[in-house]
Amino acid sequence: MLSSTPFVLCFAIFLSVPLLFLFAPQILPPKDVPLLLPYEPDDLALFRKASALASSSSSRTRSSTHSRLGTATNPKPKIAFLFLTHSDLYFAPLWEKFFHGHRKLYNIYVHADPSVKITPPGGVFQGRFIKEARKTERATPTLISATRRLLAVAILDDPLNFYFALVSPQCIPLHSFLFVHNFLFRNPVASLKDAFMSPFPKYRSFIEIIDDDLNLPSRYIARGENVMLPEVAFEQFRVGSQFFILTRKHALLVLRDIKLWRKFKLPCLNIDSCYPEEHYFPTLLSMEDPKGCNHYTLTRVNWTHSFDGHPHLYKPEELSTELLHNLRVSNSSYSYLFARKFSPDCLKPLMEISDDIFQD
Ligand SMILES: *[C@@H]1O[C@H](CO)[C@@H](O)[C@H](O)[C@H]1NC(C)=O
Ligand SMILES: *[C@@H]1O[C@H](CO)[C@@H](O)[C@H](O)[C@H]1NC(C)=O
Repeated sequence: MLSSTPFVLCFAIFLSVPLLFLFAPQILPPKDVPLLLPYEPDDLALFRKASALASSSSSRTRSSTHSRLGTATNPKPKIAFLFLTHSDLYFAPLWEKFFHGHRKLYNIYVHADPSVKITPPGGVFQGRFIKEARKTERATPTLISATRRLLAVAILDDPLNFYFALVSPQCIPLHSFLFVHNFLFRNPVASLKDAFMSPFPKYRSFIEIIDDDLNLPSRYIARGENVMLPEVAFEQFRVGSQFFILTRKHALLVLRDIKLWRKFKLPCLNIDSCYPEEHYFPTLLSMEDPKGCNHYTLTRVNWTHSFDGHPHLYKPEELSTELLHNLRVSNSSYSYLFARKFSPDCLKPLMEISDDIFQD
């Protein structure tokens, strides 16, 4: 009789272990569920490498800037164009024309979903598809990860990359390359010393940061009630366009983030409110360095009659030099530099009017 008590106890414990596993997700708040996405170890190694290189080279860049400025080559700070895509780069010929003649002022990096068959364009895009690319899906944190990979690869690739501009295959430039470069670095084109050695925030990031959107509450709880706490209080949560231009300082800040990523990588329960890439970057930058950001995007988008989260898609018959000039105009003192979205068959008319557009 006595000996049966430990047996019953053992049996009860034995029985309760599977039950514990079964109910654990309900018992524990989701924020404590350890979750390592399959691709995270590779990403972390890449981000750490970029971050370490940046720290070790920042002092070197500073001291060597003087001597480099004295040389005949006189390098200028560059813009890294980050193309995030899961389709062909339909407007590659237009971008080719945009970049023409400015080889020393930009770099191109393409993150193309490897599960989609994509025809790599030649020319300036040749060899610019990053090997670290992974599958990307709407309404998942994979678009955040893809963007962070692009930032890391660009940081590792060229210490002269100063601005990091995220674009999509449906984006087009609205001005000439020199206009864009001069605008970002202040006219006339900044010297390396001016960009890298000036006290921050002489050059600021351009990222839309919105705190009064009607959808803010539903987006905040897309992963469940209170899941974002304590890292992100509702008052700190922001939304904005995915298409940003970050400074090198902010690109590194994004790569070094662990705290917010832990929350934004959690799967959404409400898919209709799930746009992680439009929430993560504005929230992170608004929390970490709001004064270092212009809180608007330089990429124009037309939300009139938007449907299912998709903005207006311009068709060839709508295109004219006048339309593109109109798309430049903002309600503020700046001019939009890029616009989206344009259907693939817009390429021909765009090439025809691009001579007018790339004059200034
Ligand atoms: C925005 O899209 C609507 C159609 O949804 C169109 O009628 C309007 O002309 C567009 N606005 C601009 C400035 O292109
Ligand atoms: C400028 O503001 C007006 C009025 O608020 C608005 O209808 C229009 O869409 C805005 N234009 C741009 C380019 O944001």
